[in-house]
Amino acid sequence: MDIRVLHGDITQQDVGAIVVNLFEGVTQPRGATGAVDSALKGAISGLIADGEIKGKRGEATVIHTLGMMRPKRVVVVGLGKQDSFNMNAVREVSGDVARTLKRLGVERAATIVHGAGIGGVDAEQVAQALAEGALLGAYEFNRHKSKGADGKGVQEMVIVESDSAKLLALERGVATGKTVADAVLLCRDLANEPANHMTPTILAEQARQIAREQNLEVTILDRPQCEELGMGSFLSVAQGSAQPPKFIVLRYWGDRGNPENSLALVGKGITFDSGGTSLKPADGMQSMKGDMAGGASVLCAVKAVARLGCKVNVTAIVPATENMPGGSATKPGDVVRAMNGKSIEILNTDAEGRLVLADGICYAKHLGLKRVVDVATLTGAIGQALGSVRMGIFGNDQALIDRLIAVGDEAGEFMWQLPLDEAYKEQVRSEVADIKNTGSRGAGAITAALFMEFFADGVQWAHLDTAAVSRTDQVRGHTVKGATGVPVRTLVRLCQRMAS
Ligand code: BES
Ligand code: MN
Ligand code: ZN
Repeated sequence: MDIRVLHGDITQQDVGAIVVNLFEGVTQPRGATGAVDSALKGAISGLIADGEIKGKRGEATVIHTLGMMRPKRVVVVGLGKQDSFNMNAVREVSGDVARTLKRLGVERAATIVHGAGIGGVDAEQVAQALAEGALLGAYEFNRHKSKGADGKGVQEMVIVESDSAKLLALERGVATGKTVADAVLLCRDLANEPANHMTPTILAEQARQIAREQNLEVTILDRPQCEELGMGSFLSVAQGSAQPPKFIVLRYWGDRGNPENSLALVGKGITFDSGGTSLKPADGMQSMKGDMAGGASVLCAVKAVARLGCKVNVTAIVPATENMPGGSATKPGDVVRAMNGKSIEILNTDAEGRLVLADGICYAKHLGLKRVVDVATLTGAIGQALGSVRMGIFGNDQALIDRLIAVGDEAGEFMWQLPLDEAYKEQVRSEVADIKNTGSRGAGAITAALFMEFFADGVQWAHLDTAAVSRTDQVRGHTVKGATGVPVRTLVRLCQRMAS
C-alpha cells in the first residue's frame, strides 16, 4: 500500500472510497465530514438521526454516493468518545478502515486526518499513527499459499488535507509511520515463518540483509567462537539441535562521538522451542515457531532507527538457536557456566530463554554497553498475571522502566511493572550451582526476571516479557492473526527519545 499526502478537497477525489469520521455523540458533523454530508444532501446527519451511525469506535458505515459526488463511496468511521481519543484510537481505526476497504474491493482510497479538527491533536503524530494503522491492519502472511493473497486490498491511500499549513507535518508523520510500520511488518514476517523456514542460520542471514541495506555493522558468531567466549549457557540450549546456533550482533552508530548515548537491545532468538528434554505437550507446540519474536523485534527496531537516522548508538544482540531434545541435549540437573563465569543448574530445559539471554546480557557488558533492554517471549506465567493486554516489564533502573512505559503508552504497546523483591530470590538459589534456571513455587515471570537480573549487575537493565502479546488470534484494529510485531514501535520510540 502506498500512502501519500495531497493538498485538496476530499469530496473531489477520483477514488473508490473516501473516509471521513465522527466522534460519538456528535449529531451535526462539521469540517470535512460536514462538507461530505452537505454534498450527500444530509445523508450522514440523517443516518445519525436514525441511530444507524453512532460514532462508536470501530464502527464503519458505507454510503454509496450514486452520482452525488465524484468518489463512489463514503465510509464514515466512528472515533469513539472525544475525551478518550488519542493516537492509539487513530492507529486502531485506521487498521479497521484498511480491512473494510479491502472487503469492499477498493484499491484507491482517500482519507481525512482523523481528529485533526475538533480532536485537537498534533498533525505529525496523527499522520504517523494513521500510516502505521493502515499498513499494520492490512497485513497478511500468505507467503506459503500457492495462490497468494485473496483479493488485492488497498493499493493507494491518499491523505487529503485542505489546510496547506499542515502539509509538511503530515508528510513528516507519514514518512516516519511508513518506516516504523515496515519494521513491524518485517518483524511479523520473521516471527510468522515456520521454524523450518526460520532457522538460526536464516535469521542471521536476515540480520546480514538489514546490515547491507542500512550500511550497519554485523557480526555473526558461530559455535566455536561462542565456545571461545565461554558462552556455556547459550550453547547448552543449542546442543540438542541439528541446526547450528548463531549469535547475532547488529550495530548502528548514530552518535559515534558519544559512547554514553548507547543502548543494547538483547532479544530472545529461539527459532523453535520444543522444550528440549523437558519436552512440551504436543497441543499448541507449533506456536513456538514464534519464540524468536523478541530477537526479530530488536533487529527490526535497529533497522527502523537506522532509516530514521536517530542520533543514538544501538546494538541488537540475538542469541539464536533451536531448543530441541536431540541425543546430545541438556538433561535436567546439568550444570553449565555462562560467559561471566557463573554456574547454572538447569532443572528444566524448557526454561531456555533465560539461558540464552544470560549470555546475551554478558556479551552486551563485554562490549562495554551500560544500558540494556531485553525482549523475550519468556514465560507462560506472564499471561496468567496480565493476560494479553499488557506485557510485563521488570528491571533494576526505575528511570529506564518509566521511560519504556511512557513510550510504550504512546506507541500503543502497554506494559505493567512487576516486582523483583529480594524475598523471591530464594526461589532461584541452587544447592549445587550459583543459580538455578527455574523457580520453585508461583511467580514464574518474576523468578525468570530475577534469573536475568543476576546477570545484569552493574548495568542499567529493563526486561520485557512479551510471551502473551507477541502473537494473537484476534483481528482488531492494527493487529491481525499471528505475530504482532510487539514491541518494535516502543523500541523505536525509545531510541528517538534518547536521540533528542
Ligand atoms: N517460550 C516459552 C514461553 C512461552 C509460553 C512463550 C507461551 C509464548 C507462549 C518459554 O521458553 C517456556 O517454555 N517457559 C516455561 C518456563 C518454565 C519451564 C519455568 C513456561 O512458561 O512454562
Ligand atoms: Mn521453553
Ligand atoms: Zn521459549
